[in-house]
Amino acid sequence: MFYHFAPVQGHTDAPYRHFHALGYGAETDYYTPFIRLEHGQLRNRDIKDFSSELNDGTHIVPQIIFRDKEELTILVKRIKELGASEIDLNMGCPFPLQTGHGRGAATVANEDLAKSVIDTVKENCDIKFSVKIRLGLNDPDEWKKLLPHLNEVELTHISVHPRVAKQQYGGDLDLIRFSRILKESKNPVVYNGEIHTPQDIDRVLNDFPDVAGIMIGRGLLARPSLVKEYLSGKEWSQEERVEEMLKFHRALLDYYTSTLCGDSQIISKIKPFWEYAEEEIGRKPWKAIKKATNIAKYHSAVASIDF
Ligand SMILES: Cc1cc2nc3c(=O)[nH]c(=O)nc-3n(C[C@H](O)[C@H](O)[C@H](O)COP(=O)(O)O)c2cc1C
Repeated sequence: MFYHFAPVQGHTDAPYRHFHALGYGAETDYYTPFIRLEHGQLRNRDIKDFSSELNDGTHIVPQIIFRDKEELTILVKRIKELGASEIDLNMGCPFPLQTGHGRGAATVANEDLAKSVIDTVKENCDIKFSVKIRLGLNDPDEWKKLLPHLNEVELTHISVHPRVAKQQYGGDLDLIRFSRILKESKNPVVYNGEIHTPQDIDRVLNDFPDVAGIMIGRGLLARPSLVKEYLSGKEWSQEERVEEMLKFHRALLDYYTSTLCGDSQIISKIKPFWEYAEEEIGRKPWKAIKKATNIAKYHSAVASIDF
C-alpha cells in the first residue's frame, strides 16, 4: 500500500513538502504541482521547485501537464535533463484555463494524444511513468477511450479521481465507475478523492481491496498527520493533532521569514496553508488567520486556536 500526497497548486511546493515529510511523511510519496510550458519553456519557478535541495530525502515525482505530443515531448526531455527518473502525467486537471487549452481532463477522450502518451512511455524506458486521471471532461465514460491505451504499457500506477471535470472538486464521487477502472486497468490503480479521516481510508481499503494506493490532497492539507495516524494504528486526539500542526506551520513560517522579505510577502505565502483546516482548528481562528494582514495579527490568530 502506498500513500501519496496529491499535488495541490499553491500549497504543496518544495518547502511545504519538505516540512511535511520531516514531521509526518516517512511513508508518503510527493508530487510537484503540475509543470507546464510557457512560451515553449519551463517556468523558472517550476524548475526551482523541482530542483530545490528541500526535496532531498523525500520521494518526489514531477508532474507535467500538456495538450499535444509536442508539449509532452519537450516537457519529458526537459524534466529528464533536470534529473527525473519518474514523471507523473496530468490527464485530470479540471481548471478551465487548462482544459480550455486541451490540457488536463480535456485529454481523457483525446485518443490521438493517448497514442502519443504510449509512444512517449515506450521511448523513455529510463523513466517510470504514472498517470493521474478523472473520469472525463463532461461525460463520465470518457475514460473508456483512454484506458485501453494505458493498458498497452507498464505504468507505476494510474491515480483516479472519480469525478468529471465539470464537477470540479465537489459533488458525488462515482465509485461504480472507479471499481470498473480498477477491474479493467492492467496497471495498479490508486484511489483519490475526499479522504479526510482514518475511517475514510479504511472504507476505501474495505470497498476496494485491490487498490495499490491512496492519494490524498485536501484531507492532508487539513490534517497533515492523517497518514501517520493511520499507519500508527491509532487516531490522535484533536489536541495532539493541533499541537503537531502548530509546529509544522511554525517551521514553514520560520522558513519563509528567512527567505522572503517583508510581512506582506510572508503572510501571503503562509496563510493559504491553513485554507482547508477550518474544521480542524475551528471557524473563529480560521477566519482570523484568513483576515490577518501582518505577522503580529497572524500570530495572535494562530494563538487563538483552542485545543
Ligand atoms: C487548489 C487545487 C490545486 C490543485 N492542483 C493540482 C495539480 O497541480 N496537479 C494535480 O494533479 N492535481 C491538482 N489538484 C487536484 C488534487 O491533486 C486532488 O486530485 C483533488 O484535490 C482531489 O483529491 P482530495 O479530495 O483528496 O483533495 C488540485 C486541487 C486543488 C483544490
